[in-house]
Amino acid sequence: MKLAVPMEQLSDESRVAVSPETVKKLITLGFDIFIERGAGEAASFSDDLYQKAGASISSDLSSMITGADLVLKVRGLDEDAGDDFSQYTSKNILIASLSALGNIDAMEKLAATGVTAFAMELMPRITRAQSMDILSSQSNLAGYKAVLDAAGVLGRAFPMMMTAAGTIPPAKVFIMGVGVAGLQAIATAKRLGAVVTATDVRPATKEQVESLGGKFLEVNAEMEKDAQTEGGYAKVMPPEYFEKQKEVVAEHIKKQDVVITTALIPGRPSPVLVTPEMVASMPDGAVIVDLAVESGGNCPLSEFGRTIKSGGVSIIGPSNMPSRIAEDASKLFAKNLLNFITPLVDPETKSLKIDWEDEIVQGTLVCKDGKVVHTRLKVEGS
Ligand code: NAI
Repeated sequence: MKLAVPMEQLSDESRVAVSPETVKKLITLGFDIFIERGAGEAASFSDDLYQKAGASISSDLSSMITGADLVLKVRGLDEDAGDDFSQYTSKNILIASLSALGNIDAMEKLAATGVTAFAMELMPRITRAQSMDILSSQSNLAGYKAVLDAAGVLGRAFPMMMTAAGTIPPAKVFIMGVGVAGLQAIATAKRLGAVVTATDVRPATKEQVESLGGKFLEVNAEMEKDAQTEGGYAKVMPPEYFEKQKEVVAEHIKKQDVVITTALIPGRPSPVLVTPEMVASMPDGAVIVDLAVESGGNCPLSEFGRTIKSGGVSIIGPSNMPSRIAEDASKLFAKNLLNFITPLVDPETKSLKIDWEDEIVQGTLVCKDGKVVHTRLKVEGS
């Protein structure tokens, strides 16, 4: 079995889909590994490190892909960025984060090449798939980095400091959306000494916030009872909930130094949680980090990939946060891919043996036999 790892083409992408550690393990599974020259450089994995782990380095991407059973990428193919769809055929299985739900036309185009494609972001949220969940592994690092970004811009200290020149009060940090990114943001802000509050629509998060030393800001416990899907995600809340949330948050946010928003609804625009009026009510020097900016943003003022000023408040709209902590993000992403691939290989014959009926395979399979086959894409695309 041959496995190819092309260099990522998107300009904001520093991650790579294999690490030296996973290369060794993939070789044990029976793969010959071909990595495009320089593919790991931006994630601190030199060609030399990969060669020492047993991979071959190649500058000939076209023949790498032609010969590959598996092609591993961080992001899906993007023609504008330089990816060449015509290099892919029905011989290849592509495994990557495809952003499939928001890119139905691109998935149709990908399917037309004949490639079999798995979208790792569609991983079912079941216990068996936890170690394969790229959203989890990458959001965790994004939550951490969001706090560091906020601390870098804030003109105040996070911890309380008692000095001979006077006492500095601790920063007040408010986290909106307590999923994987939000929980890590709470933990990081607490470690830095901030006073942390947080809110979420899913009732289970109250206890999680408190166990990390944060205070939970409740909006409406009655309406939140039914706010979680079976898959663990938040549901779209009714307009009355947003009205109530606005009231509660508007009062609270006036006193916050840092707000980090992470609220997402899979496959839909993210909910507006911080209105322009709320931004205007915040103290001068405050910082908002909108981690949901890629899917529309939790604050309508945030701009993708930019830091803007609205009055005295800085609003950071980070593009591809995990890529900014590329070494660790790549290590975890690569581990997620390894854990996904391992059950697809027959250890006896060292060949691919995919159980097409398996829940994890069906949950992530987007293109097969020239067609887009994922049920969520078919329903949402029709
Ligand atoms: P996410 O990235 O989809 O959303 C982030 C957070 O925003 C969620 O906690 C969500 O409830 C919240 N949110 C959405 N709309 C909101 C609103 N209007 N107001 C306030 N908050 C709002 O969620 P994420 O981080 O992917 O995780 C969701 C859950 O799934 C977590 O409980 C996590 O532990 C679980 N999970 C389970 C896995 C598995 O079993 N394999 C793997 C990964 C996560």
